[in-house]
Amino acid sequence: MQWDPAQYLRYADERLRPALDLMARVPLATPARVVDLGCGPGNVTAILKQRWPEAAVTGVDSSPEMLGKAAASVPECRFELGDFGTWMPEIAPDLIYSNAALHWLGGHDTLFPRLLSLLSKGGVLAVQMPGMHAAPLRALQHEVAASGPWAAALADVGFARPILEPGAYWDLLRPRCTALDMWETTYMHALQGDNAAVQWAIGTSLKPFLDRLTPELREGYLAAYSKAMAGPYPRRADGSTLLPFRRVFMVATV
Ligand SMILES: C[S@@+](CC[C@H](N)C(=O)[O-])C[C@H]1O[C@@H](n2cnc3c(N)ncnc32)[C@H](O)[C@@H]1O
Repeated sequence: MQWDPAQYLRYADERLRPALDLMARVPLATPARVVDLGCGPGNVTAILKQRWPEAAVTGVDSSPEMLGKAAASVPECRFELGDFGTWMPEIAPDLIYSNAALHWLGGHDTLFPRLLSLLSKGGVLAVQMPGMHAAPLRALQHEVAASGPWAAALADVGFARPILEPGAYWDLLRPRCTALDMWETTYMHALQGDNAAVQWAIGTSLKPFLDRLTPELREGYLAAYSKAMAGPYPRRADGSTLLPFRRVFMVATV
């Protein structure tokens, strides 16, 4: 999928908050090597470098568009093309940090143990992922996709997969680490602007759907999705659109 860094960063403040909440819980004072896995446009990578200025910080991502933006804006970090499923560090990192990224790949029962196995002794895997597959934001993408002239084009669309239940991550990680900290939060994002919840989705989960469509079908699909979204995400009297957004966090020390 081709990412659009500018659209993704439209709600940069809201997207940054869980990244900082995750970083705050990383129990490392002076890691030598830090990897930002699924680093996107690099704004969080830059903050990792600010928190641990002595560390070598590397951002890894499979999107050349995102890496291009990251390399241009964060020259103090290194960026490399890589896929979660196959990426191998040359030297074991002390921290693998991944914010809002690992849900784009399935197979977590093998991916998570593999990431733990790549860490140095005492190293930390810190992960945040959205748990939104049951929310209207995501459910309506599929519902609207199934009926309309775009249905055939969207029949087998790839999308960010449902994550596992928190207990399943606990069972997967706990036997492989010495300490595990897990929590979940539902943020009440107060989005500004027209059609704000749809604009949010266009930056991430809706993108695989839109990428499949011709301009004409895209317009029709977006109009139908926007109409359906107005029910669960109305604009409030002050102009904000409230988007409840559930996120699951885990910090595992090996
Ligand atoms: C929603 S963005 C998150 C970016 C950043 N971590 C942040 O907090 O803003 C998800 C990123 O994961 C990357 N990504 C998705 N699937 C990937 C994969 N299989 N391997 C590597 N990167 C992937 C995307 O290219 C995208 O930049």
